[in-house]
Amino acid sequence: MIIAIDGPAAAGKGTLARRLASHLGLAYLDTGLLYRAVGLSVLEAGGDPEDAQMALSAAEQLDPARFGDPALRGEAAGAAASKVAAIGAVRAALLAFQRRFAATAAGAVLDGRDIGTVVCPDAEIKIFVTASLEKRAERRLKELQAKGVSAIPERVLADMRERDARDSARDVAPLVPAEDAIVLDTSSLDADAVFNTAVAIISERRLARGT
Ligand code: CDP
Repeated sequence: MIIAIDGPAAAGKGTLARRLASHLGLAYLDTGLLYRAVGLSVLEAGGDPEDAQMALSAAEQLDPARFGDPALRGEAAGAAASKVAAIGAVRAALLAFQRRFAATAAGAVLDGRDIGTVVCPDAEIKIFVTASLEKRAERRLKELQAKGVSAIPERVLADMRERDARDSARDVAPLVPAEDAIVLDTSSLDADAVFNTAVAIISERRLARGT
C-alpha cells in the first residue's frame, strides 16, 4: 500500500506521515529532504539555488547518507529547497529516486508536495494536509523556539507566505491537491486528532475497496 501525504509547509505532514508509517509498519520517505539536500549543497558550494546548472548537478549527486544532517532542517535549507524545486530538470532527476523507494518497499508512506499528483499518482490513499497560513507560521515559530533558534514572528509568517506562493505558482508540479485526495484541514486539530482522523480515513477507504 502506498500512502501519499501532501501539503504546504508546517501543515503537519511530516508528523502525520511518520506516525502512520510506524503504525502500519510501512517504510517512510520525507521527500522534502531530497530538495533540501540539493538546495543546501548549492549554498555550500557558494552558488545560487536558482542556478539550474548547479542545482541539477547537485541533484544528480544526491547522497541519501546525508538525510540525517540536522542542517537540512534549517530555514536556509528550506528556502533553498523551494528554489531548486521550481526547476523542472531537478524534479525529473529526483523523481526516479522517489519512485524506486515507493516500489521497493512492501508498502510506503511518502510526504511532500506532489506525491499524489506526480510521484505516485496511483497511490491507494492520498491525503492533502493543510492549515491556515497564520496557524502554520505559529507552529513553525514554536518548532524554531524549541530548537533554541530565535525568530521574529512577522519574518516567519512572511517567509512562509513567500514559500507558499513559490510552491503554488511554479509551472512544474505546483502544490495542488490531487483530484482524488482527501483534504484534511489541521488548523484546529492537534497531532493526535490529525492522526486519528487519518487512520479513520484509511480504514474507510480500504473497507470501501475491499483491500
Ligand atoms: O517541512 P516543510 O514543509 O517546511 O518543507 P519540506 O517538506 O521539507 O519541503 C521543502 C521545500 O521542498 C518545499 O517548499 C517545496 O518547494 C519542495 N518540495 C517539493 O517541491 N516537492 C516535494 N515532494 C517535497 C518538497
